[in-house]
Amino acid sequence: MPKFPEYRMRRLRQTPALRTMVRETELAPSDLILPLFVVPGTGVRRAVSAMPGVDQTSIDELLRDATEAHELGIPAVLLFGIPESKDERGTEGYAEDGIIQEAVRALERELPDLVVITDVCLCEYTSHGHCGVIRDGTVENDETLELLARQALSHARAGADIIAPSDMMDGRVGVIRRALDDAGYTNTPILSYAAKFASTFYGPFREAAESAPSFGDRRSYQMDPANGDEAIREVELDIEEGADIVMVKPALPYLDIIRRVREETRYPLFAYQVSGEYSAIIAAGQNGWIDTEAAMREALISIKRAGATMIITYWAREFARSNG
Ligand code: PBG
Repeated sequence: MPKFPEYRMRRLRQTPALRTMVRETELAPSDLILPLFVVPGTGVRRAVSAMPGVDQTSIDELLRDATEAHELGIPAVLLFGIPESKDERGTEGYAEDGIIQEAVRALERELPDLVVITDVCLCEYTSHGHCGVIRDGTVENDETLELLARQALSHARAGADIIAPSDMMDGRVGVIRRALDDAGYTNTPILSYAAKFASTFYGPFREAAESAPSFGDRRSYQMDPANGDEAIREVELDIEEGADIVMVKPALPYLDIIRRVREETRYPLFAYQVSGEYSAIIAAGQNGWIDTEAAMREALISIKRAGATMIITYWAREFARSNG
C-alpha cells in the first residue's frame, strides 16, 4: 500500500459525489422487513408506550400499515399476534381462526405481492409467557415441538409466505419442515431465528407482544450472549434441519456474529434490530442527546455492512420515507 504523502485517504472524501461513488454499502427500503403487532377487534390502534411509533392494531388498521409499507418499497412484514385469550398450551397460536391466521388471510387477499412472514412461537399465547409447554417448572422441549409444528402448519394453510420459528427449542426446524412437507407445503420457506440470544434488548417488545414470562427467564432456551462458536453450531444445525434463511438476533450488539455467520455459512442471513435497540435510539433522541434519524441510519448500515442480507426493523417506514 502506498504511504503518505503519495497516498491521501482524504482525496476521496472531499465532496458528497466522491463519497457516494466509493461507498461500499448501500441500504434501501428493499433491504428492510417491518414487524407488525396484530390484536383482535376492529378500529383498534393502541400505541406501545415503550416503543414510540409502534402500535398494536386490529386487522383493518394492520392492512393500512402494511399497504403503506408496501407502497414505500418495503417487500415484507413480520407478524406477531396478541390473542383474545391465553392458556397453558398456547392453543390460540394454532387455532385455524386465530388472530395471526386471520391477519395472514386478510393480507394475502389485499396485498398478494407483499411477503408475509409469521413468527412461530408460543410465548404470546401461553398464560405463563414462556415459549413452550411447562413441565416441572421448565420448558419441555419435545412436547413443545408438536405444538410448534401445528402452529407453523396453520400459518402455512392461512397463506403465510415464510414461516419464522423464534422459540429456540432443539429440533424445531426439522419438525416444522417435515410437517410442512407432509401437508404439501414443500415450497414454504423457513426463516429460522437460528442464533437468538437471551437479550435484555427484548424488553420493550414484551410490552408490544404482551409476552413477558410470568416467572424465571428465557436463558434455558435462548443463547448466552457470551457465546460465538455456539452461535455457529446453532446456525449449522438449523441449516441441516432445513432452514432456508437464518437469523441473528439482536443485531447491533452481535455484529461479530453476523459477520461470522455470513463468512461460515454463505446462506441468506437476516438480522433483527430488536425493540431495545430501536427504543434506546429513540429515547436518546427525545432527550436531545442524539439525532435519532442519523443514529438509526448508522446502526442499520452497520448491520448491513457486517453481512446481513436483510434487516428486520421497526424503523423501516421512517427509513423509506426519508430515503425519498
Ligand atoms: C418471541 C420473540 C421475541 C422477540 C421476537 N420474537 C421476544 C422474546 O424472545 O422474548 C423479540 C423482538 C424484539 O425485541 O423486537 N419469542
